[in-house]
Formats: sequence, C-alpha cells, structure tokens
Amino acid sequence: MSRAFDVGLESLSALGANSPPAHSPEPSQSTAPSAPGGKSFYLETFGCQMNDHDSEKVSGVLLGRGYRAVESPAEADLVLYNTCSIREKAAQKVFARLGDWKTTSNGKIIGVLGCVAQQEGEEIFERAPWVSLVCGSASYRRLPELIAEIESGGRRVTGLSLDTDETFETEITRRDNPFRAYITIIEGCDYSCAYCVVPHTRGPERSRASDSVLSEARRLADAGYTEIQLLGQTVNSYRDPTARKMNFVELLLAVAAVPGIRRVRFTTSHPNDFTREIVTAIDATPVLCNHIHLPVQSGSTPVLRAMGRTYTREQYLEKIEWIRSARRPINLTTDVIVGFPGETEADFRATLSLLDILRCDGVFSFKYSPRPNTPAQTMPDAIPEEEKSRRLAILLEHQRQIQVARNSTLLGAEYEVLVDGHHSDRDQWTGRTTSNRTVNFVSPRQSLLGEYVQVRITRAGANSLVGQQVL
Ligand code: 5AD
Ligand code: SF4
Repeated sequence: MSRAFDVGLESLSALGANSPPAHSPEPSQSTAPSAPGGKSFYLETFGCQMNDHDSEKVSGVLLGRGYRAVESPAEADLVLYNTCSIREKAAQKVFARLGDWKTTSNGKIIGVLGCVAQQEGEEIFERAPWVSLVCGSASYRRLPELIAEIESGGRRVTGLSLDTDETFETEITRRDNPFRAYITIIEGCDYSCAYCVVPHTRGPERSRASDSVLSEARRLADAGYTEIQLLGQTVNSYRDPTARKMNFVELLLAVAAVPGIRRVRFTTSHPNDFTREIVTAIDATPVLCNHIHLPVQSGSTPVLRAMGRTYTREQYLEKIEWIRSARRPINLTTDVIVGFPGETEADFRATLSLLDILRCDGVFSFKYSPRPNTPAQTMPDAIPEEEKSRRLAILLEHQRQIQVARNSTLLGAEYEVLVDGHHSDRDQWTGRTTSNRTVNFVSPRQSLLGEYVQVRITRAGANSLVGQQVL
C-alpha cells in the first residue's frame, strides 16, 4: 500500500512538484510484502495524504487480524479501495475499478472505503452488487467489527454513520515510508466551503488528545523515524480535547521537542485559523519545516465570499505578510479553484494578480467540479467547461513562469535533503528539503536512503531541482 512518496499530483492541473495537494486523485497501491499464509488483502488508495494515512491504519487493522498484504488484486481474498470524491473525475475512477470485478469477483470480498463510500452509501450495492463492504472514514473505528462481520459471511456490511466524536486510531499502523511518518491530529471539518464534499464525507471536526499524539511521536522516534507530518483537513484548527488544552502551536513545539525527530511538517492549514504564532514558532525552531501550504482558492473577495471561505483577499495577504517577514525563508504553496460559479474574467484576473504577489513554490490548481450535496452545485452562472479549461491553462502558464524565475535563483544554493528514494534508471537519488522541495541529485555514494545530506543545486526547471551531493 505504498504511494511512491508523493506522486499524487494531478498531471495536468498541478504545478510545482513540491507538496501534493491535500486531495489528489492519483491512486497508490498495496505493494508491501508481509508474512505468507492466511487470508490476503489488496488495498488501493486514491486521493489525499489523509487517505494515504487512513490506508496505513486500515492495513494495520488487517495485519493485526492475520491478513497478509499482496501486490495484485488478483491474488487477494479481500480487495479494498480507499476512495476520493473531491472532484468528479476521482469518484469516476473508483467506479471504473469496481467495474473490473463485475464478472470476475468470484469468491473475493470487494470493499469500498473513504469518501465515495460515505457519499454514495448503499447506492454502491445497487451500482455494483458484487461489493460487500461500504465504509466511510468517520466509521473506521468500527472497521475491526465490520471485518469480523464479513469474515463470518456477512454480505452488504456498512459503516456510514457521521455521528462520531472519536478519531480513528489503531494498535498497529503499517507505515509506507520508513523515514517520514504521518500522524493525524484532527479529523473531519467544521467549515462549509460551498464547493467541498469533505464535511459531508469526513464528518465534523474532532481533535485527538495531545498525549496520544505525543506518545505516537515518541514511538515513531524510537522506531527510527526522523520526520513527522501532522495531518488534518484543517490541521491548524487543532484544539486539544483534554484538560491540557494545548493549542496547535504548543502541540507543534512539543512534537518538535521529541528527541530524535529532526523535521516536523503539517498540512493542510486553513487561512482563518492561521496565526502569527505559527510563523514565530517556525522562525524560532529549526525542527519545524519552513514550508506552509495555505490554500487560498481565489484571489477575488466576492468569489471567496461565494465560496464561504471566511476571509478576504486582503486578510489572506496579511497572513502572507507575516510569513514573508520571517527571518527564515518560508516556502509557500497554495490551492486554487478556477471557474467557480459566477467567477468573472475580472475575478479570474484577480487570482492571477494574487499569484504574482504570492510567488508560490507550487500551486495546485483545479477546475471547479460540481459535487453532490454541496451548496455550489445549484448556484447560478455556472462557467462552461471550455472556459474553465481556458482559465486553468492560463493560470498554469502564469504560475510556470513564476516558478521558472524563482527556481533559477536557486542555482548554486545548498540544501539539506532527507533522501527517500533512488531512480535506478538515471542513477539519481531523490529527497526533500525542509522547505518541501523535491531534489534529484547524483552522488558517488552507494547507500543514502534515510540520510540527511547536503546537496548543491546545479539545474532548476519550473517543477524540478537537480543537484549534486556536497561531500
Ligand atoms: N472542485 C474543484 N476543486 C476542489 N477542491 C475541493 N473541492 C473542489 C471542487 N468541488 C480543491 C480545493 C482544495 C483542494 C484539496 O481541492 O482547492 O483545497
Ligand atoms: Fe473542504 Fe473547506 Fe473544510 Fe477544506 S476547509 S476540507 S475546502 S470544507
């Protein structure tokens, strides 16, 4: 169930291969080997890092029950899809996968997890009667019980309640990346952006107890992880439900203080809850990575208002000012939606002018996709598909030029890179800087995985940095 360390970019609409968007529909697959014998499972994951991490926990639940992971669905007794419905295309992919089993599912248990499961619910059994399990992420606490029900012959088992104030924690979590580990600190979302299915598919916001987060961080450090990424749809809305009442910044600093942890990241932040203290903490604490993903969605205040984003262009820019005035350079990435209902040419131009001010290291840009049960679905003045495509193409080119200019200033710079992969075809190592830039580089060394090395940048494109190790 590994994702090839962040290949989750939308091929056409994402610029800046630095950090994946919070939700991206590229699938990743169950690939990890495990003990032979017993029942087997295959788990394919679509979508965001939250889904990636949920899949790690689902794998943990299954491994704990004696299942083993296999690399292809054909070999598996249990085939699970952890799905994404953020945009229509992502949801369609899942039904295409399910279609593969129409005549060949003989004896296999097919299950749908995640956002499409929550959104479509029992409809999935109507569209694909060979499916036996439908479970949304807000019900994952019940997964062990649901799996037991299936094992004892249950057909059409569902977990669809959104009525939970608990988070999904597991005894075992099967981690895909041996160096960087995710920790969910907050689940669900209490915002109600007019275009977004997440409040509907992931349920209300609930934060995890700070002592539970910190003990997981300590366990991970003891197991050799050096980088931790704190996750949540609105990660910076974190509010400790225990008597300690830690706020987000206190939790960040406490995780950063865990011995052995060298890097702490967090995603995704909501501008409304983005405080100056976050910037101050990053500025003063080298373990906190100098990268902030702060989705703006639009540069036009009327569009932001129609989207229900709770801030104006000016308020967003005020927060950017805090980031830019830090002593430590802090990389910024953002998300943008083009073609939201009612978006005029002037609104769109306002987004382009905002990008000129932001000069982001990466922008994940999407054509607005109407989603079921969201307020925007029925808004007037829908933008035609061709016009959305036109705006997206203009925005991509605009941002590409910003990135070419930005990245060309990095030639000759040296960065510390945590090495997390090797491209054997071109004999290059790959890793990330603290600012979340991916750097591919050459080195005479034979084994670098998991190490922190110094790399000098020798080539810089719009989306990639190439370098060589400084020895
Ligand atoms: N259409 C297009 N993009 C969307 N996003 C969320 N919902 C939609 C939608 N209905 C984008 C937002 C969000 C990112 C993860 O996905 O930009 O920040
Ligand atoms: Fe969706 Fe808005 Fe919540 Fe983000 S803050 S998950 S865009 S509703």
